[in-house]
Amino acid sequence: MRVEQVFETRRNLLDSRPMQDASQEPDRHVTAGALTVEEVAVEGSLRPRSLADYIGQAAVKQNLEILLAAARQREEAADHVLLFGPPGLGKTTLANIIARELGVNLHATSGPAIERPGDLAAILTNLDERDVLFIDEIHRLNHSVEEILYPAMEDFAIDVMIGRGPSARSLRLGLKPFTVVGATTRAGRIGGPLRDRFGAVYRLDYYSQDELATIISRSAGILGVDIDTQAVDVLARRGRGTPRVVNRLLRRVRDYAQIRSDGRIGTDEATQAMNAMDIDDEGLDTTDRRLLAAIVQKFASGPVGGAAVAAVIGEEIETIEDVYEPYLLQLGFLDRTPQGRVATERARGHLRGLGYEIPAPRKSDRTDAGLWDGMTAEGRAEAEGRAESETVA
Ligand code: ADE
Repeated sequence: MRVEQVFETRRNLLDSRPMQDASQEPDRHVTAGALTVEEVAVEGSLRPRSLADYIGQAAVKQNLEILLAAARQREEAADHVLLFGPPGLGKTTLANIIARELGVNLHATSGPAIERPGDLAAILTNLDERDVLFIDEIHRLNHSVEEILYPAMEDFAIDVMIGRGPSARSLRLGLKPFTVVGATTRAGRIGGPLRDRFGAVYRLDYYSQDELATIISRSAGILGVDIDTQAVDVLARRGRGTPRVVNRLLRRVRDYAQIRSDGRIGTDEATQAMNAMDIDDEGLDTTDRRLLAAIVQKFASGPVGGAAVAAVIGEEIETIEDVYEPYLLQLGFLDRTPQGRVATERARGHLRGLGYEIPAPRKSDRTDAGLWDGMTAEGRAEAEGRAESETVA
């Protein structure tokens, strides 16, 4: 398998991504957004390279093992695989593993990086027999590119237009059989025609604390970090069910222990490092708490529309939906109702325990609550003020 190009391609992929969300800020520790270029190298060393080394996602692993073994035995390209789930759970890792287990090359790109149909045609015609084409954020492919992908996936062929005007004609170009591994945080954003072309669709779930603890211990071994089991548990508990997050926390705690003590990580170092990073016992950071506090304090715990919350805390709604909300929903701190987001009693209890002022939740049985309903005068003024200042700027 040729893998050298993988990291090169991933680097290009990351470089070409628009700066779109707060998860790319260098001081974010617990959200699992895109990695910086330096982090890619360290993350790369921590990633499992085979299914046997891959911890967690037992059902996905089991199904993939069969799919890959069968394709290998038949000496055919494996069926197309769609992976979906929140960021940081291992979609890219699995794509690399799939290619490695099949003994083929991995070509990595992303939905937003493929701007024109010709870009995709160039990638497709470059694939070797049975190669894996990994398309991250596949829900962000534009329509004209997606149209090229349909026959490519189904018939291993693309239709190219020759000439212009009345003499233009379409020519079908055969491709070598290959496998698309698509990844998305938003299965719901992928249209039926594209989804139907994937023979296997796997959902990645948040990892249990035990699984995260095993991943931390494995990573500590690779990095040569001396960490005791209680400290591993401190990190696992705050790891948001996400390997990328625990690996990041481990690296930050390693720095902390190196500078503030003798390099060994015990409970004290782990807890102090978490406090220094403002990460609370549930693994929430300042943005998570601002989000919850906005709903609780400015919208009387909701229901409230995403746009209003986004305006108040100054984050993109997409970032809130992809990066912050999934884990808050999983924790049971947030509910999404047809009327909007609602902060739960658990969330109120958590914030109360941290000293936040908690107004009584709004009781409403209305079913037609609008975007701005439930917003206090103060919250509304703040949101509108932001919108205005953004327009002026
Ligand atoms: N590192 C990141 N994700 C991992 C996983 N699922 N298993 C083992 N190590 C990992």
